[in-house]
Amino acid sequence: MAQDGSKVKRSSQTFCSCGGTHNGLPRQLYVLECLAQPGQTGEVPREGLVGCWREPPFVYCFYDRQVTDLVEADLAVKGFHVTGRYEMSSAQWQPRPGPWTTVGPFCIVCPCHKKDVPLTHALPIALHLGLVFGSGVHPTTQLCLKLLAQVFDPESMKTVVDLGTGTGILALAAARLGAQQVLALDVNPLAVQEAAANIVENDLEHVVFPAAAEGLYAVGRFGQLLLINLEWPSLCAVLQTDDWKHFPWVLCSGYLEAQADTLHRMLAQTHDLRSQTTEKDWVASFWIRLSSSKENMAPHSPEP
Ligand SMILES: C[S@@+](CC[C@H](N)C(=O)[O-])C[C@H]1O[C@@H](n2cnc3c(N)ncnc32)[C@H](O)[C@@H]1O
Repeated sequence: MAQDGSKVKRSSQTFCSCGGTHNGLPRQLYVLECLAQPGQTGEVPREGLVGCWREPPFVYCFYDRQVTDLVEADLAVKGFHVTGRYEMSSAQWQPRPGPWTTVGPFCIVCPCHKKDVPLTHALPIALHLGLVFGSGVHPTTQLCLKLLAQVFDPESMKTVVDLGTGTGILALAAARLGAQQVLALDVNPLAVQEAAANIVENDLEHVVFPAAAEGLYAVGRFGQLLLINLEWPSLCAVLQTDDWKHFPWVLCSGYLEAQADTLHRMLAQTHDLRSQTTEKDWVASFWIRLSSSKENMAPHSPEP
């Protein structure tokens, strides 16, 4: 890509999840797919950098302008080998829900439209949308939100872990339903950063705590309800550990109907399926730990 300073296209406006141009991501994203050398610790060049999406062994660097040869050379020096270049609109990267959208009892609202939301929507979730997953549009997120609203019992589910929090949407939903402490974990530091901003936007800093973590190994025995909506390989990797088995309740998504048998076999080692819901081939399911089910610990959990 031959570029010089005069050809560099700069986007002066950013646009918001509501479609306005006052906040959020640039309209156009310029993405460099880079193979990061093992042990690479160098900083990605920051000029025009919107954020980095790490998916080992690749790092996707999102820029708000076409990337210059200088930036690419700098990346190479720092241990990033460019393997692909993409250009897309922000809406192509992640569909936007518009000023607000309702999902079950929740109203997902762009922060700049908070005041416009009709008062009948009891459970608002204000979301700044950046690069990370969790706008509320994807079927797995919607299935999780609806199922969570159905099964949540604030008396017995006071502590919640949301593994793979993305924007923080499910963690915020649990807090809105009455959870007292919610750990919002994500392997991607960019997600933790965006979730943290959304937690502040919702005034829920005293309830929802974001942190960077891969899997549940650092959680110990904390948590009564586990929310886990991960990409399929990550979901399988986490469920192959023992770290989730102490949770009395697990709400799981991120898998397709064709994958349900495999996933259910893993969860059924220690948990009973209580409820399952599907949309566009995606599935979300709610599970209760076998010993807990014997002790009748989930008075409000729906029957299968
Ligand atoms: C499908 S998104 C879900 C986002 C949000 N919870 C929702 O329901 O819309 C999955 C998120 O999990 C994160 N993730 C994937 N594997 C993970 C792992 N092993 N530990 C922690 N986070 C993980 C990804 O970075 C991504 O942000």
